[in-house]
Amino acid sequence: LTAPDIPFSQKAQRTGEQPVSRLMAEALANPTLISLAAGFVDHASLPTEQAARALADLLAHPDSAKAALQYGTTRGYPPLREALLGRFECLEGAPAQTLALTVDNVVVTTGSQQGLYLLADVLLDPGDIVITSAPSYFVYTGALQSFGAEIRSVEMDQGGMRMDRLEGLLKSLQATGHLNRVKLIYLVSYYQNPTGLSLAPDRRQRLLELVRTYSQSHRIVIIEDAAYRELRYDGPAYPSVKSFDPKNQYVVHAMTFSKAFSPGMKIGAVFLPDDLLDAVLRQKGNHDFGSANLIQHALSRIMETGIYAEHVAQLRQRYKAKRDAMLAALADRMADLPLTWTAPAGGLYAWLTAPNALDTSRGKPLFQRCIDSGVLYVPGDYCFAPQADNPVPTNHMRLSFGAVGIPAIHEGVSRLAQAIRNQLDQGHASAIASTETS
Ligand SMILES: Cc1ncc(COP(=O)(O)O)c(C=O)c1O
Repeated sequence: LTAPDIPFSQKAQRTGEQPVSRLMAEALANPTLISLAAGFVDHASLPTEQAARALADLLAHPDSAKAALQYGTTRGYPPLREALLGRFECLEGAPAQTLALTVDNVVVTTGSQQGLYLLADVLLDPGDIVITSAPSYFVYTGALQSFGAEIRSVEMDQGGMRMDRLEGLLKSLQATGHLNRVKLIYLVSYYQNPTGLSLAPDRRQRLLELVRTYSQSHRIVIIEDAAYRELRYDGPAYPSVKSFDPKNQYVVHAMTFSKAFSPGMKIGAVFLPDDLLDAVLRQKGNHDFGSANLIQHALSRIMETGIYAEHVAQLRQRYKAKRDAMLAALADRMADLPLTWTAPAGGLYAWLTAPNALDTSRGKPLFQRCIDSGVLYVPGDYCFAPQADNPVPTNHMRLSFGAVGIPAIHEGVSRLAQAIRNQLDQGHASAIASTETS
């Protein structure tokens, strides 16, 4: 007897498979593949000794061990929240109270992903509008879609999300009576995933001006995802978007230990305006009533002892060399190709733009050609939410220099360049053939 179908919720039905999981399967099925796709961090420099020492110290004393092995609180371990606020102050070069932030505004989350998810959960109903950049961090796009949000995206240039375009969008939503549906603006302000680009400093201030102007029937919340802030290799250290919100009203600042310390620890935090706190904490209570307490205690020690800051400093050197290797490889191997790419001052990604005719999406010949040549990239179309008025661009690629070693970066870029060259040659040959036969 066959059992009747399981009646999945509307939300489950709105939730698609994360496209990146298909890429991961591709990489696992081809062990010789050089994956320039994975958003993983550098394996060799994961802080094994530092983590071992912190955990051993913690567990060596029955009192501290029991405190860490017990449940914690939903908001998170207070000394860790203090340390996070301290680190933020240090990066900002300003005391937290000048931004109306105290340790009470800091909520520890299970990765920053949980923080982003909880905010969508407390702010969005189906049909609400979320504004993101185009392109944007695709995992969150999937989460937003699961809430039934309509995603409207704003073009980027070298300075990140274009504020003139954002203003244009807000204006047109107002003119058509849809401004009251706009709940959130989401952006990755430092070394964005997927482009590696940061929001220019003047735009940070402008963003706040626009949000204040257009928060009419209700407040529009900005989520500043600062996941890659610590991974700065050169260029200026910009003040956060949060720093332009002195009364702590509009901007949620999300950070994570995943990129600059250990993704396996899966701890992040959100800095929240006072009037978002209760709603987020209630939802977090429903999720897990507190992120892993043992890891929070360990991270608190790692921060207090200066180990974190030391590790970040070393990591920046290491990733800078990888970033340089990728840019050198691109300049060297792709000089003859009609492609351009970003030169990220931090983070883990470079973003390539090909001529429109070169389709980089997964089902198309270039992608398969790359797999056959032993290299994997993230097709750029994953990073764009479909828009009513614009087709999704299919001429971009995201390359990551995080997980692979320097020789593999060179080899991977070389394979990619050759695959692109062959694809363009073939496209050229078939274009000539078709004009000859027509
Ligand atoms: C931009 C961005 N935000 C958030 C995350 C979530 O990371 P985690 O939940 O591990 O903090 C990632 C992970 O890749 C990311 O790239």
